[in-house]
Amino acid sequence: MGISMDHATIEKYAAPVPRYTSYPTAPHFSDAVDNQKYSEWVSALGEGDRLSLYVHIPFCDRLCWFCGCNTKQTLKYAPVKAYMKRVHKEIEMIARLVKPGATVTAVHLGGGSPTLLEPDDLDMLGKKMRSAFNFAKDAEISIEIDPSDVTPEKIEGMVAFGMTRASIGVQDFSEKVQEAINRPQSYEVTRDVVYALRDAGIKSVNLDVLYGLPFQTEERLLTRPCRCGQTA
Ligand SMILES: C[S@@+](CC[C@H](N)C(=O)[O-])C[C@H]1O[C@@H](n2cnc3c(N)ncnc32)[C@H](O)[C@@H]1O
Ligand code: SF4
Repeated sequence: MGISMDHATIEKYAAPVPRYTSYPTAPHFSDAVDNQKYSEWVSALGEGDRLSLYVHIPFCDRLCWFCGCNTKQTLKYAPVKAYMKRVHKEIEMIARLVKPGATVTAVHLGGGSPTLLEPDDLDMLGKKMRSAFNFAKDAEISIEIDPSDVTPEKIEGMVAFGMTRASIGVQDFSEKVQEAINRPQSYEVTRDVVYALRDAGIKSVNLDVLYGLPFQTEERLLTRPCRCGQTA
């Protein structure tokens, strides 16, 4: 059944809502779920259970002004490297709790920008996860991609990691909007990453676009960028 967008409906839903990036959403986190409770829940997983693993990379080499993600800017790789050591430790810790027989059917690398990871670190992360858990052959493995980080070596690394789905950050193609949100990213950069992923055999590709950004208008949203990067 469709919702009719009358004034009363708009009024009813015109309230700030949490961003559903986790469940429960961050404002509902509480001490009621402490380390012990968390360990009990994880320890209850085992035979026949399907696991989804999420690895958060809380670093970016640029900060977009609209961003609501848990991240911080770094232009040095050392903090990322140090963080990955902790991620390996956490994988070991969780894997010790889960009983045998559970199968990983989904992995998501998000952030921040997982594309900051050097191919060697991505490789070590993949090996660590696969040695710690049982993976389904058809596990969905998705990675959030900031096109401005991408190099041919990184695409190779993501394919070797087993990526089956690429989620690409775009937000808006307009230079004016990009300038207002501190996210310069040419149409060509995004296009080339999409083509390179397709060429590498990645069939599932999505682009993140946002509405409600400065200088976006309905008219501009309805125009489409043509291959030369201009709007058509
Ligand atoms: C972690 S980022 C994607 C990967 C990479 N860091 C990038 O920006 O290309 C995930 C997506 O979250 C969305 N996002 C970030 N902040 C948001 C906000 N405040 N409200 C809604 N969506 C947001 C953006 O569309 C962004 O592409
Ligand atoms: S690159 Fe992605 S995660 Fe980083 S600040 Fe921009 S939108 Fe947020």
